[in-house]
Amino acid sequence: MAVKVTWHSHACLLIETDGAKLLVDPFLTGNPLAPVSADKVEADYIFVSHGHGDHMGDTVEIAKRCDATVVSNFEIQNWLTGQGVQKTHPLHIGGGFNFPWGRVKLTIAHHGSALPDGSYGGNPCGFIFYLQGKKIYHACDTGLFYDMKLIGEEGIDLAVIPIGDNFTMGPEDALRAVKLIQPAQVLPIHYNTFDIIRQDPSSWAKQVEEETGAGVRVLKPGESLEL
Ligand code: NI
Ligand code: MN
Repeated sequence: MAVKVTWHSHACLLIETDGAKLLVDPFLTGNPLAPVSADKVEADYIFVSHGHGDHMGDTVEIAKRCDATVVSNFEIQNWLTGQGVQKTHPLHIGGGFNFPWGRVKLTIAHHGSALPDGSYGGNPCGFIFYLQGKKIYHACDTGLFYDMKLIGEEGIDLAVIPIGDNFTMGPEDALRAVKLIQPAQVLPIHYNTFDIIRQDPSSWAKQVEEETGAGVRVLKPGESLEL
C-alpha cells in the first residue's frame, strides 16, 4: 500500500501508512479552511511540532477521544501529560525512534514554541518520516536555514514547507529551501488560512518547477497525494 498524505490545511497532515493514521499539527477548531472537524478526524499517533495554537490545535481532545499517542519534544510531552493525555512519546531534536509503522526523527526549526497557556514549550521542530522506504520532511513553522541542505542529503521524496510569509518562510525563501533540500516533490503549506499569510501557490509552483527539479503538489484542503 502506498503512503497516503492528506492536507487538512495549514500545517495539518494526515499520513496513512501500513494501517496507521499519523496526524501532524491538528489545528482544526477555529481554522477557517479545515475540511474536517476535530470530533471526526481519526488518529493513532499525533505529532506536535511546537506549542503555538495553530499547531497544538485540537491535540488534547483528539488524543483523548482516539486514545492516540502524542509525539512531541520533551517539554510539550510533559505539558500534555498535565493536560490528561495518557499516551505520549517524547523525542528531541536530532533524535529518532522506530515505531511499529516506521521511523520518525526530529529536525531543527527556527521559530518559537510557547504553549497556549504561556508555559515553556521547548524548541520548535520539524519531522522526517521514514515510511515504506519513502522519506517525508515536514519543515513545520520555520525560517530558511542552510542546514536544510543536510536534511536534503538524506534524499527526500516529499518536502512539506511553509510559504505563507509573516510567521514563517515566504515564497522567495521557500524557493531557496527547495533548492537546498532538492526533494522529488514539494507540498506548500501554511498559507491562506488567514489574510496575513495570503499567497498564490500556483505561481509559486510554476517558479519552483522552472528553477528546480522538484515537482510541486498544490492541494486543496482535504485533498491527498500518494507516495
Ligand atoms: Ni508557530
Ligand atoms: Mn504556525
